[in-house]
Amino acid sequence: MHTSAQLIPSTRSVATLRRAAATCQACDLWKMATQTVFGEGPAKASIMFVGEQPGDLEDRSGHPFVGPAGKLFDRALAETGIQRSNVYVTNVVKHFKWSPAERGKRRIHKKPRYSEIEACRPWLDAELAVIKPKVLVCLGASAAQALLGKDFRVSRDRGKLVNSNLAPHVLATVHPSSILRAQDDESRRLQLQAFIEDLRQVARVATRT
Ligand code: URA
Repeated sequence: MHTSAQLIPSTRSVATLRRAAATCQACDLWKMATQTVFGEGPAKASIMFVGEQPGDLEDRSGHPFVGPAGKLFDRALAETGIQRSNVYVTNVVKHFKWSPAERGKRRIHKKPRYSEIEACRPWLDAELAVIKPKVLVCLGASAAQALLGKDFRVSRDRGKLVNSNLAPHVLATVHPSSILRAQDDESRRLQLQAFIEDLRQVARVATRT
C-alpha cells in the first residue's frame, strides 16, 4: 500500500479517523514507531496547526506536540491569548521516523521522505475536511512545503498570508524545534519573539470576521 486513501472511513469525525489511522501501514514508518500519533483538538477549532511528524515523546505518549518543542509552542501560544485547548494540532506525517544514536539509547529524528508524506496525506486532507479551519498554520519547512509547494521558503515567507484553497487563511511560520536549536540565549530569545509575532498574526486573522 502506498497511500492511506483506502483506509479513510466514510463516516468522518476526528474519532473515527483516529481509530482508522491507528492501524495505518501505508508506508513503512509504522514498523519502527510505537503508535500512530493523530491530530488532537476540538472539531470546531478555527485554527489548525500542522507540524512535521511526532517526536520521541509524542511517539511514546500518542499525543502531538507534547515534547520540548510542544512545551515551547504552548508557551508561545499563551503569550498571544490563543488557548491550546481551542486549536487543532496535527502533523503531515503521523508516525515517528527515527534512527538509533551511534552511542546510547537515544532515538534520533529523521526527516520524512516525500513518499512518506504523500502516503500520509489523505489523513491530513480528511482532518482538514472535518475541522474546516478558518486559519491553517504550517509549522516549519516540511509542513509548509508539503502543503504549499516545494518552492515555499519559510525564511522568506513566514507570517505572510498565502493563497491556498486549503483554508480561508493560510500561513507558515518556523517550527518551534528550530528555536530550541538556536546557537545562544540571545538568538533563542529573538527567534521566540519572532515566532510569537507570527502567532499574534494568526490570532488577529482568526478573530477577523
Ligand atoms: N514536532 C512536530 O513536528 N510534531 C510533533 O508532534 C512534535 C514535534
